[in-house]
Amino acid sequence: MATPPSPTIRCLLLLLVVAFPSHPRARAAAGPAPLSSSPFDAALAKLQARIGYAFRAPDLLRRAMTHASYSRENGRALAVLGLAAAQSAAALGALAADNDAAASAVSRRASEAASEAACAAAGTHVGIPAIVRVASRTSASAAPVVCGALRALIGAVAVDANSTDAAVEVFWRLHVLTAAAAASM
Ligand SMILES: *[C@@H]1O[C@H](CO)[C@@H](O)[C@H](O)[C@H]1NC(C)=O
Repeated sequence: MATPPSPTIRCLLLLLVVAFPSHPRARAAAGPAPLSSSPFDAALAKLQARIGYAFRAPDLLRRAMTHASYSRENGRALAVLGLAAAQSAAALGALAADNDAAASAVSRRASEAASEAACAAAGTHVGIPAIVRVASRTSASAAPVVCGALRALIGAVAVDANSTDAAVEVFWRLHVLTAAAAASM
């Protein structure tokens, strides 16, 4: 008859489970991860509703909402793509509105739309300071953090959809929502 494990063994087993949780990728391969298993995941579910985009790969969204101070697996690379997509969206918007727009005007629109001030405002509006994971000494509401996470979010949509069009759609939606909120203040 098997004897129950001693308290020491049980402690060790518990430590192992805590120290080596199953890898997120392993879970992703088994099917979409449930989006309400933790407060973080619940916040991510709300964020998807706010931006009007549902992720096929929720791990991308988790990564986007993780600052470099918190984990080596963070949204920095996604933010590079998000910034490029935002600039491209703004430049296209300027030229679509006026084929004869001057290079300086198109350039100004692109840099304004992609500025830290604009993306921090959009990120704050969509609730990023309460969602993004940062190290304890890092402020989740600092403009560079909020802006980086917002850009990473745009980049994550592009990767998830394998299309910058989907990312640009989310970018404009956030832009319009933030502008409307600012105008009504
Ligand atoms: C992403 O899109 C490109 C271009 O449409 C396509 O060639 C590629 O196979 C797609 N990749 C995935 C993983 O769907």
